[in-house]
Amino acid sequence: MKKSDTPDSGFTLTDNQTGKTWKFPGHTGAMGNRLVDIRPMYSTSGLLTYDPGFTSTAACKSDITYIDGEKGILLHRGYPIEDLAEHSDYMDVCYLLLYGELPTPEQKASFDTEIRYHTWLHEQLARFYQGFMRSAHPMAIMVGVVGALSAFYHDSTDISDPEQRQLAAHRIIAKMPNIGASAFKYSLGRPFPIPINKYTYAENLLQMMFSNPSEEYKINPVLAKAIDRLLILHADHEQNASTSTVRLAGSSGANPYACIASGIASLWGPAHGGANEAVLNMLDEIGTVKNIKKYIAKAHDKDDSFRLMGFGHRVYKNYDPRAKVMQKSCHEVLTTLGIDDPRLELAMRLEEIALSDDYFLEKKLFPNVDFYSGIVMKALGFPESMFTVMFAIGRTVGWIAHWREMLGDGDQKIGRPRQMYTGYKKRKYKPVSNRGHTQNKISWSWLWRGKKNGTTASEG
Ligand code: ACO
Repeated sequence: MKKSDTPDSGFTLTDNQTGKTWKFPGHTGAMGNRLVDIRPMYSTSGLLTYDPGFTSTAACKSDITYIDGEKGILLHRGYPIEDLAEHSDYMDVCYLLLYGELPTPEQKASFDTEIRYHTWLHEQLARFYQGFMRSAHPMAIMVGVVGALSAFYHDSTDISDPEQRQLAAHRIIAKMPNIGASAFKYSLGRPFPIPINKYTYAENLLQMMFSNPSEEYKINPVLAKAIDRLLILHADHEQNASTSTVRLAGSSGANPYACIASGIASLWGPAHGGANEAVLNMLDEIGTVKNIKKYIAKAHDKDDSFRLMGFGHRVYKNYDPRAKVMQKSCHEVLTTLGIDDPRLELAMRLEEIALSDDYFLEKKLFPNVDFYSGIVMKALGFPESMFTVMFAIGRTVGWIAHWREMLGDGDQKIGRPRQMYTGYKKRKYKPVSNRGHTQNKISWSWLWRGKKNGTTASEG
């Protein structure tokens, strides 16, 4: 049964310097976790909270996804991710995330048709692609092209109209595989893909990525299933960096295409969606099992910036449940394709060693979903640069579900964090003639920080 939050007896805050106290309301969430409602804090006490990275701050209420990071539990609308990955397909999960319930057969058929018939891209978008370098990272193209959709689909940018919101939601989900596959084809100098309506979402994604117009493409059902599962595992993960970015962008009333573009930009970072690409690069760098010890030592070393990519998570202090499903999928795909990828053995050995290492145990660093997803995607034929694109395609529904939920939330306000100001107090203005030559010791080293390893500033 769904339970909303319950106000409770609340909390008292005491200022240890003055002995003054303030009372704040409390809430108990649906799963029993308690929260201090600090909304009245500034107006009643003049105090602000300091919480970089929002490690202890719930920025919104949400019915969509629940994570218990200590126990390694992930539920979408109450359903465990393991069950959804085993028994549902991606369209089922999209419907569930967007509308709150698993669809009936009729609802599913109609949703599926709606998505299938919005997969084309406007012809002029092809010209937009042509403005990019062929060597551009596909995530750079994704950010640009998805943002540009707002210049093409004016009939679905009025966020006050529920029908337009719905149309935009379906359109973005439907077009993402085409946008991603087009970025890939563009980088290869090949013709843009054509979606084929008889295929499922995952099958279409597969054929748009790997077919060519001169030959018939035969869908391998094992690969289509692996892609479908990959999309399910990435579909949503509550208030992660990219979803929070989408909510923050949307809180100002920005149109959905612009909001999703902001989510893609945030996802691109190596600490978030870029980690799957970084895992493969790391495995290649480690090279063989006998080098693992050296890299574990590098991860321990505080003076070394090296981190074991695909390990650790802001919320999971236990095994990421998605990583378990992904590990299974990884074995299935490699066995079906008859691929003997030494990186899988290396990854499993690395995992084994890290999971019995005091540093990783103490800091509760476990494999996350990205640890195995890169190996799966490589086996499916995706180049590393496309890994985060696949993540973005899967996560789009989560971003949209949160954007829609935020717009319907009566408590929602424009996102506007406060800060702890640490700069100068008010100073007397100095005219340029009185400023001397050496007083502003500004370091410009960031401009050429790539120089050390032979790259130019813009590549660094
Ligand atoms: N390897 C080595 N040490 C690590 C790692 C790692 N992968 N992750 C965290 N640590 C250490 C940190 O150095 C820090 O040590 P300290 O307390 O001695 O300073 C401690 O563990 C806590 O790390 P934070 O960065 O403060 O933890 P946070 O919750 O902010 O970061 C994050 C989580 C960004 C995922 C981090 O674990 C990381 O960088 N992992 C590698 C990148 C990665 O796999 N990202 C994918 C995330 S999942 C996703 O986006 C789908």
